Formats: sequence, C-alpha cells, structure tokens
Amino acid sequence: MRNELIRGAFTGETEGTVSEEYRALIDECAEKKDLPDAQLLRLLDISEEADEAYLYAKAREVRERSYGKEVYLRGLIEFTNYCRNDCLYCGIRCSNAKADRYRLTGEEIAACADQGYDLGFRTAVLQGGEDMHFSDEEICSIVREIRAMHPDMAVTLSIGERSRQSYEKYFAAGAERYLLRHETADPVHYARLHPAHQTWETKKRCLQDLKDIGYQVGTGMMVGTPYQTRDCYLADFRFLQEIDPQMIGIGPFIPHSDTPFAGEAAGSVTETLHLISILRLFFPNALIPATTALGTKDPFGREKGVLAGANVVMPNLSPRGVRKKYLLYDGKICTGDEAAECRFCMERRIESVGYRVVVSRGDYRSSDSENQEQ
Ligand code: 5AD
Ligand code: FES
Repeated sequence: MRNELIRGAFTGETEGTVSEEYRALIDECAEKKDLPDAQLLRLLDISEEADEAYLYAKAREVRERSYGKEVYLRGLIEFTNYCRNDCLYCGIRCSNAKADRYRLTGEEIAACADQGYDLGFRTAVLQGGEDMHFSDEEICSIVREIRAMHPDMAVTLSIGERSRQSYEKYFAAGAERYLLRHETADPVHYARLHPAHQTWETKKRCLQDLKDIGYQVGTGMMVGTPYQTRDCYLADFRFLQEIDPQMIGIGPFIPHSDTPFAGEAAGSVTETLHLISILRLFFPNALIPATTALGTKDPFGREKGVLAGANVVMPNLSPRGVRKKYLLYDGKICTGDEAAECRFCMERRIESVGYRVVVSRGDYRSSDSENQEQ
C-alpha cells in the first residue's frame, strides 16, 4: 500500500523536473493567494507528473505553515435521508422512490455524539437531507443537548437551506458551524444540476446569511459533474473568495444508479487533488477535508487528499444499520463498519502518510493566529 501510494507525484520522485512556467505560476499563487483568470485556468491544466508534484509539495508546505502535521476529525452523523429537494445528482433526492428512508430520533443522535466523544471526536456534524419533519425547536434541542453533555464538543449542522431566522435559532442554541456546499457557482450550470425551484440565488442567500450570523461556514463543490467546464471552476474560485469560508469541501461527482445522472461519467480523482492543492494555495488557513467521495473513487483517495493539502477527515458515526441508506452516490465506502473501526482505520491511514489525527475541536485558525501555534 505504502509503495503504491507514495510514488511519483506525492514524493517528488518523478521522472522529469518541474517546468519553469509552472514553477513560477505555483510560486506566484502561493505568495499572492490569488491568480488572474488566465493563469488560474493554466494551473487547472496541469498534467505532467513533475508539475503536479511541485503543486502538491507547495500545498503541503502552505498547510504545514498553518496547521503543521495535524489532521482534524469530524464525526459525521447522517440522521435523516428524507429530503424535499430533487438535485439531479443525488441518491436521496425526493423523486428516488427506491431510497429506503429513515430518521434517527433525538436520543439516537445524542447517543451517536456520545459515542463519538468517547472515541475522541470533538466535533459532531449533524447531516441530513432537507427534512422539514425536524422543526427548528427539535434541531435546537438536539444541539443544546449535545452541547450540554459535552461543552468541549463543537456541533456542526449540515441540513440545507433554511430561513435566516432558523439559522439564527440554531446558532443561539450552540451550533457554531454550518456546512452548505454551493455545488457550482455558475448559475447556468447550477440550473442544469437542479430543478427550476432550487435556485442559485437561494443557495447564495443562505451562505451569506450563515456568514453574517457568525457561523464558521463550510461550502464547496463537486468535481466533474455533468456540463461542468473549466469556467465553472473559475466561478467557484471567485465565489469562494467572496464568501471566504472557513471550510471548503470538494469531492468527485459519483453517479447514483437511481438518478437522472446514472449514466454519466464520474469526476476524476486527479482533478479533485489538483483543485484541493490550488484551493490550499488560495486559502492557506482553510479547513479542507479529504472527503468520503474521494475515498470511494480511489482506495487511497483520502490519503492522497491529505498529501495534496487537505487537513480534515470525516469518519462516519452513524449507526451501522442506517449507513447503507444514506447513499448519495453508488459504492460509498465505510457503510459496513462500526464507528470505532472507522475512527481507528482513519488514524492509521493518516499516519501512513506522515500526518497525525488529533483530539481537538480543530477550529479555523485566522491569519492572526497563523504562526503562533506551531
Ligand atoms: N456524488 C458526489 N457527491 C455528491 N453529493 C451529493 N450527491 C453526490 C454524488 N452523486 C455531495 C453534494 C452534497 C454533499 C452532502 O454530497 O456536494 O452537498
Ligand atoms: Fe471507515 Fe476506514 S475509515 S473503514
């Protein structure tokens, strides 16, 4: 495993040497944390292994300046797969009649968080479809309960688009972080991935509300969705610069057999890794997960993600009985494992590439704190 993984682009032990053009571009990007459109597009074109290796090495250098060798754990609790939305790419879309729907109770969710705490998680991510069965009061009481039981555990919500008033209530109840991927920042592309009533304007409004309220916000996009072009990525980078999120989650698109995109090609792991590295150069302090989708597309996808500049992993804490039902895409990994297995498997994986998982809330570090903690 190790040999296969740490070959080539990840060690710099490549055949050729980095081209002068790419060396200059990557150095400039690291220094300015920005690039003009034409150069950014050029960077997205990287294809030679030696250039890739230089990009990954620079991304690691930048991440190690902010976060050292630390990798933060988020325990993912997938508490409902009911969803009112109908995203064309997603396996739990409301029109997928084959999805076997479930909801955890408040007690079950709290029990997962408890177990996660004992396993060393200091962040619980409550993720679900847009399930209005969970009222604001119910969400707030679950958040309050976890925060009361474990004051040193952060609660992240990932429950989709809700009103600003709802977001305010959750924040007041103690949820400090919110994940809501923007999926694509190109409105025309957005419209091809979603039904007409799900709009880019609403997504953007939600993200701005979350930011205004004071959440640590996570957003991000899928890589390789149908109709996505390089210009879409350009729009993503500019949108990310505007929102300036604390966390950026990206992963390859993987088709689900009971969706309209069943026959489409999956996104590429290499392209995802390139984007992770470039995101790291643009956002040196961001929390960037090596996602489950990356691990699904490639058996060492998460390790490669860390070597490309990611600094977060999100093992699953959901009860084993429901894991197979939270199927956003086909072939999702870790659906047969217990929480403890995933937790320690992840630790070994991270250590195998020279990093270490830490028991910590893993808060965002602003530039002011950047050089203090290493
Ligand atoms: N492939 C990869 N990622 C997906 N997501 C949803 N469906 C898929 C898919 N088919 C991602 C979306 C969503 C997150 C929870 O999972 O980006 O925001
Ligand atoms: Fe779940 Fe490895 S992380 S089994």
